Amino acid sequence: MQSYVIEGGRKLEGEVYISGSKNASLPIIAGSILNGNISKLYNVPNIHDTQITLKILKLLGCKVKKNGKKIEINSKYINKKEIPEDLMRQMRSTVIMAGAIIGRFKEATFSYPGGCEIGARPIDLHLSAFKKLGINIEENSGFIRCSCDKIVGANINLDFPSVGATENIILATVLAEGITTISNAAMEPEIEDLANYLNKMGAKIEGAGTNFIKITGVKKLKEVSYKVMPDRIEAGTFLCAGAITGGNIELKEVIPEHITPALHKLQEAGCNIEIENRSIKLQAPKKLKAIDIKTMPYPGFPTDLQSIFGAVLATCKGTSTIVENIFENRYKYLYELQRMGAKITIEGKMAVIKGVRKLSATSVNSTDLRGGAALVLAGLSAKGTTKVENIEYILRGYEKFEEKLQKLGARIYIKNN
Ligand code: EPZ
Repeated sequence: MQSYVIEGGRKLEGEVYISGSKNASLPIIAGSILNGNISKLYNVPNIHDTQITLKILKLLGCKVKKNGKKIEINSKYINKKEIPEDLMRQMRSTVIMAGAIIGRFKEATFSYPGGCEIGARPIDLHLSAFKKLGINIEENSGFIRCSCDKIVGANINLDFPSVGATENIILATVLAEGITTISNAAMEPEIEDLANYLNKMGAKIEGAGTNFIKITGVKKLKEVSYKVMPDRIEAGTFLCAGAITGGNIELKEVIPEHITPALHKLQEAGCNIEIENRSIKLQAPKKLKAIDIKTMPYPGFPTDLQSIFGAVLATCKGTSTIVENIFENRYKYLYELQRMGAKITIEGKMAVIKGVRKLSATSVNSTDLRGGAALVLAGLSAKGTTKVENIEYILRGYEKFEEKLQKLGARIYIKNN
């Protein structure tokens, strides 16, 4: 197991370059299955989750070549349609590969991805959409076998604007017969990025990024090159690292409009924010002010920044509240913050955080990707040495995390336990 050791109490200052988006890269890598040809992808972050997804592609029979920031995938020689169970269990978002495999081969076998640290995360919306598309689904002993003679476009309404279900429907219907519509679709920027990539290879997807998406099935897809969008959650994480340490930082290679709610909340807390076209400057005040946060589907406040802001609110002046409306179990990191002296009470979906002057450095345990990142930020602000354990969670979603923080002046290093 690995830990971060952090000497806290230092202001972060300087520039940080934001990596490509994890949550855009994963569906785009899955989408490379569809064209039976080459996809040259740029700006894919080299993190555990993208490594696992590429490993699955190779196991299916794809050829994958990496050089520097470019990944070349050739999906011509795929000869398997089953996603290995152990890899499904390691990363639940592999379920969107099922949509791509079915979309091209009209069959796929995969296991239930299982819940994770932040909630049960069922896939009922994915499966009911597949049924509407004429896909037969057999489930036994944890395995799901999907098959059909052809996929026929349908009008699908999502009970909840699920990101993964929206992506899976798009991947399954790019090569379908006829037209598919998705109403109450998720509107996250990662879905727009996926659609831009697929349209570049010859798909016909309209309305991605809105709550109504239309996919007109096509017969053939071609070779494509594509650069993945910047990671808006990593951007929000570094802005909060600047805020919690009273720092002065500049983010490069970002799309500011992707994190408007987070920018407004940081301004409300007293940060000075300057936006240029692809960079964001943040100057933190001496003391942050308490704020209230409610997570919502995009374009509302993103659930993935809830944990990150939770760390920032722990030392704000006054009492803040968080309402987590997307996942039912995304407060575990708060118990670790309490061990650092944070004053927090949790009542159902709401967390009430009474700001303290300073957090106390100690050993804390990562519980999930964003919760772990929140604990790193808490350690950066606490005086003394904080040890964040189980950082494998964090390495799943942040590329060169400690290196980027070190460049901003943080004293942080990895310790192998
Ligand atoms: C994506 O997960 C992201 N992951 C998550 O980021 C993000 O938190 C989430 O979208 C919401 O924005 C990737 O893109 C790889 P959902 P996803 O389907 O697709 C319920 C991170 O930290 N639901 O929109 O799994 C579900 O239980 C990760 O980078 C059903 O009930 O999210 C949850 O409560 C964490 N049935 C809510 O919808 C379904 O069939 C949102 O889930 C599907 C989802």
